[in-house]
Amino acid sequence: MTAETATAAAPAPAKESPHHLETVLWVKHWTDRLFSFAITRPASFRFRSGEFVMIGLPAREELGEKKPILRAYSIGSPSFAEELEFFSIKVPDGPLTSRLQQIKAGDQVLLGKKPTGTLVLDAVKPGKRLFLFGTGTGLAPWLSVARDPDAYSRFEKVIVAHGVREVQELAYRDLFTSEIHDDPLVGDEAKAQLVYYPTVTREAFERQGRFTDLITSGKLFSDLGLEGGKFDPEHDRAMLCGSMAMIKDTAALLEAHGLVEGSNAEPGDFVIERAFVG
Ligand code: A2P
Repeated sequence: MTAETATAAAPAPAKESPHHLETVLWVKHWTDRLFSFAITRPASFRFRSGEFVMIGLPAREELGEKKPILRAYSIGSPSFAEELEFFSIKVPDGPLTSRLQQIKAGDQVLLGKKPTGTLVLDAVKPGKRLFLFGTGTGLAPWLSVARDPDAYSRFEKVIVAHGVREVQELAYRDLFTSEIHDDPLVGDEAKAQLVYYPTVTREAFERQGRFTDLITSGKLFSDLGLEGGKFDPEHDRAMLCGSMAMIKDTAALLEAHGLVEGSNAEPGDFVIERAFVG
């Protein structure tokens, strides 16, 4: 049989799409720079709390677009959730977010098939306290991790630290200050073990300053009632998500306190991931 007859006898299988096409369930606009949305979850989609996945919009062929635009987004839902929630910035001329910010319930978005990432409980060693430091939309993975009962069974205290420029950017403040206490799965644990630690850098607020300054001055530790004024490599674990500059500077401080960076392959004292931009 020649190659030609083989091709004729067995038509090439349809190429499987690398993305799921999912339906938008809701959209919430926090400010003119921030919004959240949720999409349906395909039955075959599995992920670990804290992972990210590619999200995008189909190419508009009528405009001559040949490829869809996709970007990495942390999944804000815990691993067992029925819907998938995302927290996004709006970049006026951003290739994806300029369009994505206009989505409405019922629209369709692309969802990658391979969630991955290092901001997962399995990538940090056991400890007593888990510090989750996020700036801007770098809060997104903590929406997932802090709603997962595993966080509370592995750590005595879970500290969600959110650093933003302006008070109005403290999205999910209601979730962390009250709503999570009524969560049927983690409500009781959150009441006893979760600490929400917001800080604002460019406006008056009950707490001000960058994470780095709050760590260096010792204020972070005194605010939390922790003795010693520094991280304890034996008991403290951390995850960082946000801008490169924040990650670099905060990671350097953690290392100066004796904490070692980990990964999925080799769990450590802290893990990092850059937040999506653009
Ligand atoms: P600041 O207002 O002092 O720059 P952005 O919107 O630029 O991503 O910043 C989000 C938050 O992260 C802001 O509060 C910002 O503080 C803070 N930030 C920016 N760079 C750093 C850094 N290198 N270390 C700690 N915090 C930072």
